[in-house]
Amino acid sequence: MKDILNELESRREAARLGGGQRRIDSQHKKGKLTARERIELLLDEGSFEEFDMFVAHRCTDFDMQEDRPAGDGVVTGWGTINGRMVYVFSQDFTVFGGSLSETHAQKICKIMDMAVQNGAPVIGLNDSGGARIQEGVASLAGYAEVFQRNIMASGVVPQISVIMGPCAGGAVYSPAMTDFIFMVRDTSYMFVTGPDVVKTVTNEHVTAEELGGASTHTRKSSVADGAFDNDVEALIEVRRLFDFLPLNNREKAPVRPFFDDPGRIEDSLDTLIPDNPNQPYDMKELILKIADEGDFYEIQEDFAKNIVTGFVRIEGQTVGVVANQPMVLAGCLDIDSSRKAARFVRFCDAFEIPLLTLVDVPGFLPGTAQEYGGVIKHGAKLLYAFGEATVPKVTVITRKAYGGAYDVMSSKHLRGDFNYAWPTAQIAVMGAKGATEILYRSELDDPEKIAKRTADYEDRFANPFVAAEKGFIDEVIQPRSTRRRVARAFASLRGKKQSNPWKKHDNMPL
Ligand code: HXC
Repeated sequence: MKDILNELESRREAARLGGGQRRIDSQHKKGKLTARERIELLLDEGSFEEFDMFVAHRCTDFDMQEDRPAGDGVVTGWGTINGRMVYVFSQDFTVFGGSLSETHAQKICKIMDMAVQNGAPVIGLNDSGGARIQEGVASLAGYAEVFQRNIMASGVVPQISVIMGPCAGGAVYSPAMTDFIFMVRDTSYMFVTGPDVVKTVTNEHVTAEELGGASTHTRKSSVADGAFDNDVEALIEVRRLFDFLPLNNREKAPVRPFFDDPGRIEDSLDTLIPDNPNQPYDMKELILKIADEGDFYEIQEDFAKNIVTGFVRIEGQTVGVVANQPMVLAGCLDIDSSRKAARFVRFCDAFEIPLLTLVDVPGFLPGTAQEYGGVIKHGAKLLYAFGEATVPKVTVITRKAYGGAYDVMSSKHLRGDFNYAWPTAQIAVMGAKGATEILYRSELDDPEKIAKRTADYEDRFANPFVAAEKGFIDEVIQPRSTRRRVARAFASLRGKKQSNPWKKHDNMPL
């Protein structure tokens, strides 16, 4: 009996070594942790339960039967993060470069199936050279099996991808279908075709970092939602994000204890809006002052900074925030910001996370670049996302809400539940100057007349009261009491139930 027990231990020990000490050392030398070390950091201490530790590949081409490491290059199982259940897979670069074989894919599929069945999120730690070259089409089939499960799990359980090494070829498409992608600076990259292929096909010379590093994907392509300096920071931040999210689409996000008075008055907000309507201010200040304990988890911080998206808690409950940022492009909506915010709104709606929208938007960004790029379709994504969302929706207009952008930003007309405005709000078809130049074109050569017309227009429309008279604004509120108002609004909406007409699925403007 003892021998059998010892054999189990020695088999486990061999499996834990993955591709061997030499390759583990090489992984460490690159500043990367091993697959198992990453799981240890991600999950609560001692909570990891492993599946399929002894699974080995079945390939016999290229003499592969001579080399069948236990686990086949991926560690899978489940554990907890702050006591809440999560399924995890972590690719082991020390085993055939973490490449995906048929059996490696089956291990991932097994935990994805269990995650959907049991209603818990999936976190994938990706570190892989892509399809296992020796296995050919069996590996491609394995990828497709994973893709299909990503699609089925979408909107059912949250899916988070952390890119912690290479992620090339079709391998990028599984993360692409998950809800959030995070990268590690300098040690991770994602691309469909690598620098060598790029050079051959397009004659472009580009490094792996330039082509698909963390900076590229968080600033240019927006493929990734955030980047961190090293493995440890990335895993700690994923734990932090996890705490904001529900386990599945039938459960609410966890309510955390809070030590911040929901009725807290912030006098400084009364002077947040500058006297000059063209002077910017930092919308993040308002977000931080509304949030419990000033805690804000920003998503896509480095992309389309003219809109801010992320999670806060109000009275301990998770709330998704979408806010125009007057500091960048005057807070205009454009292609990138519309796409960024639309995806965020849809995530929140899929997982029953209420939405707080903070509005200061002078309109859509004009220009050929925007029109040729399809701003009509992309802007419509955000409009569509807010309009279809059935979660509690609270909107605060702080200053400008002009034109179509007023409609888009979770207006009353898109089923906003509480639409508040500060006294500094200006809700109109456009700014006073633009409006008078169109309405009184014949008087343009008389600056005095135009100035008077502009002043008249401002008096009439540069305020929240015209909209409030019509009931489009539920109440004009004091800036200092915004947290209290917003907290009470969300509290009153906890029992909200709203549904859309039955359909197979929608046909949103993609
Ligand atoms: C099998 C692989 C492998 C792969 C790496 N290895 N990639 N084995 N299949 N795809 C093995 C190496 O042979 C090596 O084994 C070990 O992993 C480490 O690789 P190195 O090259 O030494 O490491 P490094 O220099 O860090 O380079 C990592 C790398 C490079 C950039 C990932 O290995 C590479 O370019 N690999 C191929 C990437 C690729 O083209 N994949 C296919 C993409 S197509 P030893 O024994 O020496 O330790 C694809 C299609 C999917 O994925 C389509 C789905 C729809």
